[in-house]
Amino acid sequence: MPEASSPQASAGTAAAPPRVLSGIQPTADSFHLGNYLGALRQWVSMQDTHDAFYCVVDLHAITVEHDPALLRRRTKVAVAQLLAMGLDPDRATVFVQSHVPEHAELAWVLSCLTGFGEAGRMTQFKDKSSKQGTGGTSVGLFTYPILQAADILLYSPDPTQGERALRVPVGEDQRQHLELTRTLAQRFNHRFGDTFVPPEAHIPAGAAKITDLQEPDAKMSKSASSPQGIIDVLEEPGPMRKKIMRAVTDTGSDVVYDEEKKAGVTNLLRIYSALEGTSVQDLERRYEGSGYGQFKKDLAQVVLDTFTPIRERTLKLLDDEEQLDRLLAKGADRACEVAAATMETVRERVGFVRRGR
Ligand code: AMP
Ligand code: TRP
Repeated sequence: MPEASSPQASAGTAAAPPRVLSGIQPTADSFHLGNYLGALRQWVSMQDTHDAFYCVVDLHAITVEHDPALLRRRTKVAVAQLLAMGLDPDRATVFVQSHVPEHAELAWVLSCLTGFGEAGRMTQFKDKSSKQGTGGTSVGLFTYPILQAADILLYSPDPTQGERALRVPVGEDQRQHLELTRTLAQRFNHRFGDTFVPPEAHIPAGAAKITDLQEPDAKMSKSASSPQGIIDVLEEPGPMRKKIMRAVTDTGSDVVYDEEKKAGVTNLLRIYSALEGTSVQDLERRYEGSGYGQFKKDLAQVVLDTFTPIRERTLKLLDDEEQLDRLLAKGADRACEVAAATMETVRERVGFVRRGR
C-alpha cells in the first residue's frame, strides 16, 4: 500500500484516525476461542478504521517460569496466527514487544508513580500469585499491569495536537488493568504536563467472556481449563467437533438463553451468535423444538468453518520463518519510531538530562 493512503501517514493532522493498541502473551501453543471472540477478532476489524499497533508481549510471558526455546517458538506461532486471522502488516503495525526497548523503560517510570497498595489490588495478580505461592511469585508478576500500561501509553497520540482517541480491544478480564492505565496516564499528566491520552477499553458486548465448555461458570482459560473445556484455534477438526458435541449442556432440551439456569447452552448460544453474526433470539427461534443435538452439530460446523482456514494459513506462514522475521522487523521499525518519540517527551518532562553529542 502506498504510504499516502495508509492511516499512519496522516498521523498528527486533524483528520488522523484514532489509535488502537493491544497485546497478547505468547504463552500457549495456540490461541483459543475466548481470545478470538473476546479480543483478536476486534483487532482485525479495527485495523481498517484505526491507526493500529498490535504486539505479542513476550516480556509479559516471562513473569512466570518459562522455557526459552518454547517462548521463542510460541512467539512466532502467535504472530503467524495473528496474520492468519487477517492482520495485514500493510494496514497494522504488528510487532514483538521485546523488539522495542522503550516498553521496559516507560514501565520503570510508571512504576515509580504506582502505589504499592494500588498494584496489590489487581485481581489478576492475586489469582496468579495465589496459584504460584509466595516463593514462586516474581516481582515482575506484581508489576505486570504497569508494563501493560507502558505498552499502551507509548502509543498514545499527542493530546496537545487535537482530540484523538486511544482504544484497547480486550476481553472483560482486562478491565481493571485498563482502569489502572487510565489512572497512571492522568497522574503523569497532572504531575508532568499533558502527555498521554487516557485509553478506552474496547470490550465486545456479546463475547467478552467465553466460558469453559465443561465448566460453564468458569472463564475459558489456557491455564485453568481442561483440554476438553477449551477450543484451540489451531486444533484439528476431529477433536474440535467432538469437544463441542460433548460440551456440558443443562437439564432439559430447550435451546434458550438463561445465564443462571442454563449457563452451558447460554455460552454456546453466545459463541454461535458471535461467529455467525445472528442474534441470540433468532437462534432460539431457529432451534425451537429441535433439541441440543442438532444445535451443537451446526455450531461445530460454524466453528470449523471459522478456524480451519486460519489453521491452514498459520501452518503455511510458519513454513517461511524468514518472511515472518522480515515482517516483524518492519513492524518493529514503525513501532520504534512512535515509541522513541513518546519516550523522548517523557524523559524531558520527568527531568532527565538530555544526552549530549
Ligand atoms: P490471555 O489468554 O489471558 O492472555 O488473554 C488474551 C486476550 O483474550 C485478552 O484480551 C483477554 O481479555 C481475552 N480473553 C481471554 N480469555 C477470554 C475468554 N474466556 N473470553 C473472552 N475473552 C478472553
Ligand atoms: N494482560 C493482557 C492479557 O492478559 C496482555 C497485554 C499485555 C495487553 N499488554 C497489553 C493487552 C496491552 C492490551 C494492551 O491479555
